[in-house]
Amino acid sequence: MNIYKRWGFESTPFETMPLPPNEKGEKLLIGRSNYLKKIRSRLCSSSNIVTVEGQNGIGKTSLVNVAAYEIYKNFISTGEGPFMIPCDIAFQLSPEKDIEIFIDEVLFGIVQTLNRKGQEVKAKGSIPKGNDAVKNWLDVPPLDLKDMHNNKPKGMQEAELRVKILNWLQVIFPYGKGLGHINGVVCIVDNLELLQTSAIARKQIEQLRDTLFSYTGIRWVLCGSLGIVFGIASSPRLEGRLIDPIEVDGISPSEAGNILESRVLANAKYPNEVYLPLTRSEFIHLFGVLNNNIRNTLSYTNNYCLWIDDENLHPITNEEKATLYYKWMEIVSGKILDAIQTQLKRKAMSVFLTGVKVVGGAFSTEDFEEFGFANPGTMRSHINTLHKLGLVHASRDEGDKRRKNIQVTPKGWLVYYGLLLKKGISVASN
Ligand SMILES: Nc1ncnc2c1ncn2[C@@H]1O[C@H](COP(=O)(O)OP(=O)(O)OP(=O)(O)O)[C@@H](O)[C@H]1O
Ligand SMILES: [Mg+2]
Repeated sequence: MNIYKRWGFESTPFETMPLPPNEKGEKLLIGRSNYLKKIRSRLCSSSNIVTVEGQNGIGKTSLVNVAAYEIYKNFISTGEGPFMIPCDIAFQLSPEKDIEIFIDEVLFGIVQTLNRKGQEVKAKGSIPKGNDAVKNWLDVPPLDLKDMHNNKPKGMQEAELRVKILNWLQVIFPYGKGLGHINGVVCIVDNLELLQTSAIARKQIEQLRDTLFSYTGIRWVLCGSLGIVFGIASSPRLEGRLIDPIEVDGISPSEAGNILESRVLANAKYPNEVYLPLTRSEFIHLFGVLNNNIRNTLSYTNNYCLWIDDENLHPITNEEKATLYYKWMEIVSGKILDAIQTQLKRKAMSVFLTGVKVVGGAFSTEDFEEFGFANPGTMRSHINTLHKLGLVHASRDEGDKRRKNIQVTPKGWLVYYGLLLKKGISVASN
């Protein structure tokens, strides 16, 4: 049975999916007003592609979702400003993905979003009077994708369908007519680092430049980590089409504490009657151990809660909660450390510690000098060892100094914590 239901919640407070582009997402997003402003102003100021770079799980997709929702909400409630609608789904490219299939996926996602949001707006009945943009959208009959199947060959069906969708977008978001704003469905291409190398990423994105990225009625945001967005931004073919990347960094420890509190409130059946086996202090401690990564903190907090329940423990006082939390941290980090220690030779260990302590957990083999190596090649075999042990995540090495393609994983941060514990050093004082 769901432990959180037993503890008085309606749903888990430790959801790790991106915050959605709706009222709930807006409410749950803590801090970040400067980034929201940056994304909104980039979305609204030109038709160029917005780009966002930042470590995995730092909050990029959530930020873009909420920024797009704010623009949408403003328009729907006042009838003023740019007319944008956040797409219900984020899209992903992969090295094997056929570009034509990707285009169809996006167009279908857009149709579904417009149909669904149209119904939502109609149902709310709060359409600003005399606004042609909303009127166009709601008056154009929704596209029914099921109706499109007929006896024509498949390729032709698809071509016709595309034309129909693109015409429909032009009616809803007429280019350059009257509105004086940049309008469209806001679509995200997420996790560009899945494309592995900047060269593959550039090629895929360049292929979309004159099709998907130039269609009327779609606003694009590209998100990625491990420096891949910088790799794309350097493409001459994309020059003039991409806005310089917004670099997203982590939230502060006190904001992390506020995330816990806002999620408890938002998911509790009765806010005063919920139970959790940890307090704000333990949550913030875990956030620090995991190098200020909020997704990993949410995920490991869930692991801790499951452990508490597995062991039939039920700490009540703050002191009991802290004691059990630190015990769990010791067990978890100790187990990982025991499993890898014999395989972690002295030199690889030294690379790991430099990666953690000196360069803050994100680096590339181009930083070889800081690691005490004469060239990237001699450093690489140690990175492979760390990668195999799951202590770092490394995407393909391209010799690009801007790309920090090696990142310490949550497992790596727990190993570091375990090492400090062994030495009797507290993480908070480190
Ligand atoms: N400012 C914030 N307030 C509340 N929750 C947040 C905030 N930032 C991120 N989160 C939460 O952290 C988790 C990770 O966020 P998100 O998926 O947006 O990160 P990301 O950078 O897009 O990750 P990835 O690199 O994997 O795509 C989600 O559960 C999200 O709800
Ligand atoms: Mg994301």
